Amino acid sequence: MVTKTARQSVAGTKRGGRSATTIALFAIIVLVFVYTVALFIEVTLATGKSYRETQFDPKRKLGSMQMSRTLPETNAPSRAPTPPRISTGHLATWILTSHLNDKDVNTQHSAYERMRQSPAVPLTFFPGSLQLSHAQALKYCYADPAVYKKHIQGKRGDGSNVPVSYSEKFKLAYVMLPKSGSSTARYMLKNQFEAIETSKSLQQIDFQAGGKMEGVEVISFVRDPLSRFFSQYEEAFTRTAPWVTNDNPYIANTHPYPYLFDNIHSYQEYEDVFCPPETRKSRRECIDKPSAENGTLAARLERFVRNYDGRDPFDVHLTLQVPMLSTQNGYPLHITQIYNTTDAEGGWKSIARELLGANSSLAQSGSEGVVIEGRSYPRRLNSKLVSLETQRRICELALLDYCCLNLPLPEVCQGRHFKDDNGVERELFCKLEAKAGRGSERIQPGVFPKEAA
Ligand SMILES: *[C@@H]1O[C@H](CO)[C@@H](O)[C@H](O)[C@H]1NC(C)=O
Ligand SMILES: *[C@@H]1O[C@H](CO)[C@@H](O)[C@H](O)[C@H]1NC(C)=O
Ligand SMILES: *[C@@H]1O[C@H](CO)[C@@H](O)[C@H](O)[C@H]1NC(C)=O
Repeated sequence: MVTKTARQSVAGTKRGGRSATTIALFAIIVLVFVYTVALFIEVTLATGKSYRETQFDPKRKLGSMQMSRTLPETNAPSRAPTPPRISTGHLATWILTSHLNDKDVNTQHSAYERMRQSPAVPLTFFPGSLQLSHAQALKYCYADPAVYKKHIQGKRGDGSNVPVSYSEKFKLAYVMLPKSGSSTARYMLKNQFEAIETSKSLQQIDFQAGGKMEGVEVISFVRDPLSRFFSQYEEAFTRTAPWVTNDNPYIANTHPYPYLFDNIHSYQEYEDVFCPPETRKSRRECIDKPSAENGTLAARLERFVRNYDGRDPFDVHLTLQVPMLSTQNGYPLHITQIYNTTDAEGGWKSIARELLGANSSLAQSGSEGVVIEGRSYPRRLNSKLVSLETQRRICELALLDYCCLNLPLPEVCQGRHFKDDNGVERELFCKLEAKAGRGSERIQPGVFPKEAA
């Protein structure tokens, strides 16, 4: 589709003559125009003049940027000319944030309209390539309940009554995500900020002026989805094992993946796998010793990852992060700041500086000052024995988290390792989806999780 003005100007040059030449000429003009605008946007962003420091919380942290990566070419049958090779992360960032700054010149608006009206050229970008913080990216996310419904757990509901650690004194709320630094966070909230466990509204509307949550800072911590998956799996494994009688939904042989426990019938037998009798003097030392498993546990994980469709987690610890930060309708909860567990300590220090003051002992503490709480025994599964192929499938299953939290793929998952529906090998990607009017663009994973072929 073309805009009215563009159509008129072309029609003006060659009234009535809708020859193939005219159409081809027109296509070239549009392409050149889009490309020029894209270049213009690049330059604008590079000089940092447009939206950058104006609309956003200056305390924000930018996710890591991958400025120069371009999209992989595909050999897919092309109905439209191939899109220009530009840094689409910049373009996507601009589209997502342009409605926040209406001082943009008109050319940008028409470029925007043109792109919105060109469904044949979907805007795709790489995970981690947006110039947005984790929290800003989440704001533009949509975790489609048709796909991720079973990942939306933890009483999120419509967002009006979400369980949080909350400090009235510091107007600080923390939303818990399993396996993403949550033990440390709850400890810090309780001991440093006098928080209690309660429920609060995290609906966007309640944070507006006069709303009941106005001025409350809502934080969460996220973690690289691949390394998180190993922890998630192990937690799910140990909680649903047949020897566990407490809170185990799968007692009496109802586990959906019973082969995870083949030949392991008791905790002692499990212990013998990661701490074989010939490697120990007594069972007591098994608790803290590095795992000596020979790959039998890793092989079970691999089999599970091959069979798992990514949509139906058999335990709450296997849920993705984005759905846990969303309402049951798939829209993001109001989160003001998302830290990552790669630099949890830096995160906590900056929270302390902001809320407790620069002279607080936490803000000034050396590397031992921040208490990192949590399960501290070593992982039983040796994740170094997990194949590259399995690791890449984990990235694919967790693509929602990579895209919506603007997290770069780990190195092992970069490159053309993923086969799309046409059998074309390409790199995992994210896309912008526009449903309705201006400002309706949503970040989506490039592909949804599905069962392995
Ligand atoms: C994690 O946070 C640190 C500090 O805030 C930042 O430097 C780093 O780029 C972040 N990592 C990712 C993967 O976004
Ligand atoms: C690995 O250990 C398990 C028992 O923990 C054993 O049954 C299996 O034979 C061992 N595999 C290899 C390849 O050594
Ligand atoms: C922190 O301590 C320094 C020196 O003791 C003092 O000059 C400064 O005003 C204090 N800052 C705050 C924010 O309390």
